[in-house]
Amino acid sequence: MTPKTFKIKSFGCQMNVYDGERMAELLADQGMSAAPEGEDADLVVLNTCHIREKAAEKAYSDVGRLRREDGSKPLVALAGCVAQAEGGEAKRRSELIDIIVGPQAYHRLPHMIAQASSGARPIDTDMPALSKFDALPQRRRAGPSAFLSVQEGCDKFCTYCVVPYTRGAEISRPWEDVVTEAHSLIDAGAREIVLLGQNVNAWSNGKRGLAELIRALADFDGLERIRYTTSHPADMNDALIAAHAEVGKLMPYLHLPVQSGSNRILKAMNRSHSVETYLATIDKMRRARPDVALSGDFIVGFPGETDEDFEATLGIVDAVGYASAYSFKYSARPGTPAAAMEDQISREVMDERLQRLQERINLHQLAFNQSKVGCDTQILVERKGRREGQMIGRTPWLQSVHVETAARPGDIIDVTLVVAGPNSMTGAIRTKEAA
Ligand code: SAH
Ligand code: SF4
Ligand code: F3S
Repeated sequence: MTPKTFKIKSFGCQMNVYDGERMAELLADQGMSAAPEGEDADLVVLNTCHIREKAAEKAYSDVGRLRREDGSKPLVALAGCVAQAEGGEAKRRSELIDIIVGPQAYHRLPHMIAQASSGARPIDTDMPALSKFDALPQRRRAGPSAFLSVQEGCDKFCTYCVVPYTRGAEISRPWEDVVTEAHSLIDAGAREIVLLGQNVNAWSNGKRGLAELIRALADFDGLERIRYTTSHPADMNDALIAAHAEVGKLMPYLHLPVQSGSNRILKAMNRSHSVETYLATIDKMRRARPDVALSGDFIVGFPGETDEDFEATLGIVDAVGYASAYSFKYSARPGTPAAAMEDQISREVMDERLQRLQERINLHQLAFNQSKVGCDTQILVERKGRREGQMIGRTPWLQSVHVETAARPGDIIDVTLVVAGPNSMTGAIRTKEAA
């Protein structure tokens, strides 16, 4: 039976969220509609993440839960990075899976759905460079803040990471494609565009790099804010740093993962930057844009990490003073070089280190938020809050702000930040009289 309704669940990074949105548009174009919240769908797409073991295992437990009480089941498509990494193995692990489609092949979903509807179990994990973008329908829906993938894949091969295998080689989308999609998103209501790529700051098209792209987007009427993520420290160039000083629409925020504060570990991770080069980049960035909010990613318990290495990681957290940061326990991934390294760290040691690191990060996060109390700024309103009359928006520094207001999603409003919490702030509307 051909499905009429669908549900797409995306896990993992923003690029997966973007892919999920594009799959939804593709299926809608085929005449299918999104199943209402809380209702069964004829087709369920699980858009999965393979980055850590827990994320990958979650994909299978979620598949298992799709069988209905009466024994029936929806059509099930396993998409995303687990599909890419496991391919046909996924079919053997769960008989509930009908379709296996990798992150570079999902434009072929309609055809695969037709095959699966007549009883086949199609699998497509090809990686045709960029052809999915040409085959997808134009963007027609966008929230106030919209994701736009400008780059796919990764060539960095950090020794712990599966992304180069699940997403393939690093490829930049052409300038014209990005510009066309940006226009569609703005026409559909986006006030902010977040440019996405696993190494987004390495985006290039001929001689033009990300800085030129950002400068061009900044001239678009209707677009008020530009962000980009994720950047690699080795690709952080002067042109991009200068854009932060000169382009008003480019937000004062930089997510620049360092992973560890120990040069010995960074080398074993094949990170191609050192603590010193990383800190020098941060320094340049702060000189260009003194109020920049810095964010990062950390891994604790990489094979061979000593107490001293870990202390160095706490040291770099203090040295940078992150406005926010994500931290993870190292997870050995099949096929990566680090999984075969000696001196794998015990779970207990990892637990203890993660807890200490997160406490340290939280202190800096709270301090950053507190430093903004009393600050007059603008937020882009994104959605309703939990309380009646309350809305949630973002500051230029990406903090979530709760505010009582009649403003609608997409409005940019003047607020004073009045209360700082560890993960969000409270704002008060600035009226003309108060200003
Ligand atoms: N391209 C980006 C994002 C990669 S995935 C970058 O290079 O920063 C997001 C984060 O997941 C990484 O920054 C890293 O901190 C974490 N990560 C990746 N592989 C991991 C693994 N095997 N175990 C634990 N954390 C991992
Ligand atoms: Fe993974 Fe490293 Fe590439 Fe980031 S830069 S996606 S961590 S291999
Ligand atoms: Fe996960 Fe794939 Fe993104 S492994 S982090 S969904 S690129």
